[in-house]
Amino acid sequence: MSTIFSGIQPSGTLTLGNYLGAMKHFAELQNEHDCYFCVVNQHAITVPQEKAELKKNTKNLAALYLASGIDPEKSTLFIQSEVPAHAQLGWMLQCIAYIGELERMTQFKDKSNGKEGVSAGLLTYPPLMAADILLYSTDMVPVGEDQKQHIELTRDLAERFNNKYNDIFTIPEPRIPKVGARIMSLQDPLKKMSKSDPNKNAYISMLDDENTIIKKIKRAVTDSDNSVYYNKEEKPAISNLMTIYSLCSGKSLDEIEELYKGKGYGEFKEGVASVVVDTLMPIRKKYDELIESDKLDEILDEGANKANRVAQKMLFKAERAMGLERKKR
Ligand code: TYM
Repeated sequence: MSTIFSGIQPSGTLTLGNYLGAMKHFAELQNEHDCYFCVVNQHAITVPQEKAELKKNTKNLAALYLASGIDPEKSTLFIQSEVPAHAQLGWMLQCIAYIGELERMTQFKDKSNGKEGVSAGLLTYPPLMAADILLYSTDMVPVGEDQKQHIELTRDLAERFNNKYNDIFTIPEPRIPKVGARIMSLQDPLKKMSKSDPNKNAYISMLDDENTIIKKIKRAVTDSDNSVYYNKEEKPAISNLMTIYSLCSGKSLDEIEELYKGKGYGEFKEGVASVVVDTLMPIRKKYDELIESDKLDEILDEGANKANRVAQKMLFKAERAMGLERKKR
């Protein structure tokens, strides 16, 4: 049995991209692996957050994890700030990370480019992410394509620590899905679907209602000619919609091509909307139930207890390795 760790930022409602690239796979993995899933609220504060919003989003994301199929009997679900070892090991890893390698992270460049008042935390975000992963002796990290570089840095930091101090960290592997690792914007298929897109028609939120989903897919940009086939270079928009269709329905790209042979984009889009609605509506229903119940707090308390027990042990090992421990604990 391998150990799995993944995290999602509570910075607004998740998109269909977050779901298809990451969350959808979590529930499948928990049956065969020891899984930790985290609401990374300390990563969210690397950019300005409104206090009440952050609090609400943190709890909402925990409910969304459960609604998407995370079973607290099988997986450990917790909030990052409730396990202090993350920030503690994060600091130690910051001290072995080089500024140059952090400045080369594309996510840092994208988020800081042309901005004033960029926080130091935005730069040192990846060592905190590395701490998240390394505390649990994680073997595999299921993420979308955009996190690959961060996992590579995590591996570098773990190896650097192991070589310099003591061989305590497991070197994690990224687990990136073959299909759907990068769901694109519905308004610009050359851009990643993102919850921070100012154009709301560019993304489907996991909690959009049926009519909104149908409207957004109707408005999605298409490519020239009116035939449905998969080719990322010639037909980036249709290929993106086909990927979404395939992941939501379980049908292969070939089957979808066959299904829409001789039919136009209008009919195809109706099909896409229908499978997205069928995927998201049950999650939304469960989410609405959970957010009303008291169960959520209990689950998160238990998750934090379990995560603290495991994380604390690894933190002590790392402190001992670095010479930060006064007496043997
Ligand atoms: P975040 O919160 O931006 O995204 C959460 C997950 O969703 C994936 N994702 C996508 N997948 C496919 N298509 C898209 N358009 C798309 N947009 C987002 C992301 O790849 C990610 O898997 N740094 C991380 C959070 C994090 C983390 C960790 C992840 C913190 N600590 C430890 C794994 C392990 C982030 O910002 O993800």
